[in-house]
Amino acid sequence: MQYGYFDDVNREYVITRPDTPLPWINYLGCQEYFGIISNTAGGYSFYRDARLRRISRGRYNNVPFDFGGRYIYVRDETSGEFWSPSWQPTRHEPEQYTCRHGMGYTTIGSKYRGIAASTRYFVPLDEKLEIWQLTVTNERLTPAALSVFGSVEFCLWDAQDDATNFQRNFSIGEVEIEDGVIYHKTEYRERRDHFAWLACSAETAGFDTQREAFLGPYRGWDKPAAVERGALSNSVAHGWSPIGAHQVRMVLAPGETRQVLFVLGYHENPVAEKFDPPESQTVNKKTVKPVIARYLDAVAVDAAFARLREYWDGLLGILQVHTPDIHTDRMVNVWNAYQCMATFNMSRSASFYESGIGRGLGFRDSNQDLLGFVQMVPARARERILDLAATQLPTGGAYHQYQPLTKKGNNDVGGNFNDDPHWLIVGVAAYLKETGDTSILDEAVQYDNQPGSEQPLYEHLQRSFRYTLERLGPHGLPLIGRADWNDCLNLNCFSDTPGQSFQTTTNKEGKVAESVFIAGLFVLASKELADIARLRSLDQEAEGYLAEGRRMEETVRKHGWDGDWFLRAYDDFGSKIGSKECAEGKIFIETQGFCVLAGIGLGDGMAQKALDSTRRYLATPHGIILQQPAYSRYYLNLGEISSYPPGYKENAGIFCHNNPWVMIAEAMAGNGDGAHDYYSRINPSAREPLGDLHRCEPYVYAQMIAGRDAPTHGEAKNSWLTGTAAWNFYAITQWILGIRPEHGGLRIAPVIPERWSGFQATRRFRGVTYRIEAARRGPGNAVALTVDGRAVDGNLVPLPAGGRTDVRVKVVIG
Ligand code: GLC
Ligand code: GLC
Repeated sequence: MQYGYFDDVNREYVITRPDTPLPWINYLGCQEYFGIISNTAGGYSFYRDARLRRISRGRYNNVPFDFGGRYIYVRDETSGEFWSPSWQPTRHEPEQYTCRHGMGYTTIGSKYRGIAASTRYFVPLDEKLEIWQLTVTNERLTPAALSVFGSVEFCLWDAQDDATNFQRNFSIGEVEIEDGVIYHKTEYRERRDHFAWLACSAETAGFDTQREAFLGPYRGWDKPAAVERGALSNSVAHGWSPIGAHQVRMVLAPGETRQVLFVLGYHENPVAEKFDPPESQTVNKKTVKPVIARYLDAVAVDAAFARLREYWDGLLGILQVHTPDIHTDRMVNVWNAYQCMATFNMSRSASFYESGIGRGLGFRDSNQDLLGFVQMVPARARERILDLAATQLPTGGAYHQYQPLTKKGNNDVGGNFNDDPHWLIVGVAAYLKETGDTSILDEAVQYDNQPGSEQPLYEHLQRSFRYTLERLGPHGLPLIGRADWNDCLNLNCFSDTPGQSFQTTTNKEGKVAESVFIAGLFVLASKELADIARLRSLDQEAEGYLAEGRRMEETVRKHGWDGDWFLRAYDDFGSKIGSKECAEGKIFIETQGFCVLAGIGLGDGMAQKALDSTRRYLATPHGIILQQPAYSRYYLNLGEISSYPPGYKENAGIFCHNNPWVMIAEAMAGNGDGAHDYYSRINPSAREPLGDLHRCEPYVYAQMIAGRDAPTHGEAKNSWLTGTAAWNFYAITQWILGIRPEHGGLRIAPVIPERWSGFQATRRFRGVTYRIEAARRGPGNAVALTVDGRAVDGNLVPLPAGGRTDVRVKVVIG
């Protein structure tokens, strides 16, 4: 069954019933103020950091899963009946319901008893606030006396502490109310210089700020006593749980429409000017009041919304394609690009599956995410790279993550993942290819955020590379450390203590266990770094990197090949993992995809063999499984990978992140049909008709789809925040459609399905708009280019001479 449809023209996904199999969510905000919003108005907001600066409360492990949010109630003052236009929290059966998730906004509306109410939620650009733009229409034949209520539950800032430290938190909540605006100022009296506020554009009949006064004892958000009663009690929160709620009364004539704006904001004051008057404890509202006034004005709000749409038109306009496949088009043109911006902003921190209190910005993850968003926000990509590099350790190793608010690396989710440093090389290479901005290599960047330790970014890359050379194992392959890309292949962990974290527990020294995956990554990094060295005219150094890469490639051929596919690793006893010799886990996807992607075995049939084995043993209609056979029990020497029941997550789940590696490998091997076939199997839009099986949103990728060994094969989990977004975008745009930024210009090397007659694309690249028309003349992937009417040798489009900014490229394929 389908729960909605794509509105391609408006770039919206339209959900037509509220009871989706899982909450289908969207993100509000694109710079500093963010929110998550579900199709029933669930979710929460935060400023920059979902853990440290949480504005509204999210409740974990809730039943229903999606509960707590930006809830609006409508009350019929004549009958006393009340309901929520977003279905939750009252869950009245609506006469009509739609949720439109768009680019940075969500509109949820429904009709009940002849009253249509719809709310558009969005965060204006360059502001630290969100707007709930409510429109109520009386579709009855008689006048309607109504009250509308807007409500939010404040979080006491540190979301982790907020969810646990009740002995303190029940005594610290504080608010102020002035001119009907509710100011949440918990801890402002001491070291905080920020507060939240909730304002309403209409004249209010009352407010509440104490949760218990609003809900009533033993009640939840589905049945607030104050809404039932039809009157708020102007409660002032002291301790307990501060909320914000407003009531607006209105009488609507038949056909009449009224708009009410609720605005939730975050504000900071200079430390020396926190209070007004200075010696008081009253929040200084001088700088926030003009902001509040501006956004209580409907005209200004509409203008802000128009700007938001223009912003997204600009970002998405960087690459637009028209192919014979609608699913390719809508993912590339809209949703995949959009999801890449979400992973840029959130890394793996805040979704309905990432609590916002667990992980910050991952080193490995954020570097890979660059592949998907660098073309949209190059300046912010630059900043991200420098932030990441500044957390690198002097050894070249890396903290696995950092908090966005502090930008300092930490060990909260472990360290010593030996693949981490190389992703910095991959990320910087992507940035350089897109922008040509080599100045970034000379930026002075700290190690471990230590002042005085600054060295050029280029040196960080050199140390990344050396990190592996200094950590080779008995076969000459890279030592794996805590794990490589696969967080759960914990070969040095040997954990037998219940509940112990595989990510952070002390490991063995690890002088034996080796990773063939890191070897593949190293080979790729050697080529990228050599190209970067050449940009600095360090040709000899470049040769050195390539020589190391070739040596590693030989080692992989000798010690990393199992006959029909690449091995995965050697464990702490020096035994093979991912080999015919193994009882379980005989073949793994990572090395098949990544070694080929790094160019290993492309000339001699090895790559083709690896890809054939992948198709034979790992491919399913729902995507490519991580390994086979699944581990049927816990193996002390393998760690977390064998902790999952077969078919889930890293234990033989379809881990969508690594499927594109095989797509790219297929494209490199010249197999456009195979590459696009794999692409389509996990393409969310193509899976839309499988709604009840797939269950996650059909407009974004999920981290995982249950593998063949799971009872729920085909069911997706953990949508939104996954490397899947960037890698799929990269695979389809750069390797299948073949529109590939390189240091020397834009390469056009499509490897498309045989049955495609061609495609069109517009790509903005380094200030030039390339209008590409590709037509297939025959089978195969040979390319003949004509640029502005002139035939060009090879497939690299030269940068236009004479300052031209518009270039026509004709591509004949076959
Ligand atoms: C998660 C992590 C990522 C890791 C992957 C495989 O998606 O965010 O860093 O590579 O799992 O374990
Ligand atoms: C678990 C997950 C893995 C994730 C890691 C993050 O190991 O299986 O996917 O990357 O946690 O801490």
